[in-house]
Amino acid sequence: MSHLFSPYSIGNLELANRIVIAPMCEYSAEEGRATDWHMIHLGHLALSGAGLLFTEATAVEPDGRISPGDLGLWSDETEAALGRVAQAVRRYSPIKLGIQLGHAGRKASSHAPWNGGQLVPPAEGGWQGWAPSAVPHNASEPAPHALDAAGLKRVRDAFADSARRAIRLGFDAIELHAAHGYLLHQFLSPLANRRDDAYGGSLENRMRFPLEVFQALREVTPASVTLGVRVSATDWVEGGWDLPQTLAFARALKDRGCEFIDVSSGGVSSQQKIPVGPNYQVPFADEVKRQVGMPTIAVGLITEAQQAEDILARGEADLIALARGMLYDPRWPWHAAAQLGGQVAAPRQYWRSQPRELKALFGETRFGQR
Ligand SMILES: Cc1cc2nc3c(=O)[nH]c(=O)nc-3n(C[C@H](O)[C@H](O)[C@H](O)COP(=O)(O)O)c2cc1C
Repeated sequence: MSHLFSPYSIGNLELANRIVIAPMCEYSAEEGRATDWHMIHLGHLALSGAGLLFTEATAVEPDGRISPGDLGLWSDETEAALGRVAQAVRRYSPIKLGIQLGHAGRKASSHAPWNGGQLVPPAEGGWQGWAPSAVPHNASEPAPHALDAAGLKRVRDAFADSARRAIRLGFDAIELHAAHGYLLHQFLSPLANRRDDAYGGSLENRMRFPLEVFQALREVTPASVTLGVRVSATDWVEGGWDLPQTLAFARALKDRGCEFIDVSSGGVSSQQKIPVGPNYQVPFADEVKRQVGMPTIAVGLITEAQQAEDILARGEADLIALARGMLYDPRWPWHAAAQLGGQVAAPRQYWRSQPRELKALFGETRFGQR
């Protein structure tokens, strides 16, 4: 049996295969509310045959949105809008649903990438971000507010509140976004965190707030919902966050009941020099898996079925996440199953598409037969 199409469990989360659809911002929400775009986007990805589908980074408070079009989960209105999408996905697909909860920190209030991605000034509907320190992402940008004790509590409580809402909506997994230069990564990285209180300076101090937020999520998340964290394993900048610190963070998370680590990189500094190429982040997932012994998700320029299969066969990760490759080919898991001799669940409306020579492709798990 192929590794990619073998089932895998993390806690109570039973996945049909090892394919994960990575979180992808859509910049298409209205005041944090999911729209018909999310129905179409998550709806079509839910028919892909992947084992687990993550929502885009979902903001825990309005000021924590990367762009005015970010998805949010901070109110009854945002909960109802996302609930409509989650319910439709559930109705038509057996895919497991994960939510990524995040806060943009000093990278908040930006235009969508197709509008240039620059900061939106307050006069044009933007807002000032919140960060560990009043240090902007780029020197030319206005400084964010530095979070004080009350602000830290507000953000921590907002994460817990959003997690409660996600659990109420029946999400199977929650991923805390501590990567890509957003708020929690800003606390971790010495490049963004210049605090001289208990939340800055030493590694232990820089990890304190992200660990407090994780703890707040752990306290409200029942064992039936799997809880993990996405990290940037390195800033790709001398003197920044790096793999040894990531391993220390992963160990601390594991001690606190973290169930998986999704291993990405970069995003905190415009000085980063990333050697982008196939599998470029896989060695980090491999190190976390080997040294910390936690289930890991590898991500980043994994585009081919055999490539994904080989990563798993070498034991470098437990799950494989795709983002761009899945947008380019939303039936990637079907095609990978055809190539590797695996099986995928397919909706009964599409059963007639199974190629004659691939009689077992849709297997016994065709939707509607269950
Ligand atoms: C359109 C788009 C939106 C993204 N939004 C998010 C996001 O919301 N949260 C996140 O952690 N990563 C986000 N990413 C990064 C992806 O999850 C993934 O880590 C990255 O694209 C590398 O994987 P790939 O080479 O398979 O695309 C986004 C990537 C793309 C292409």
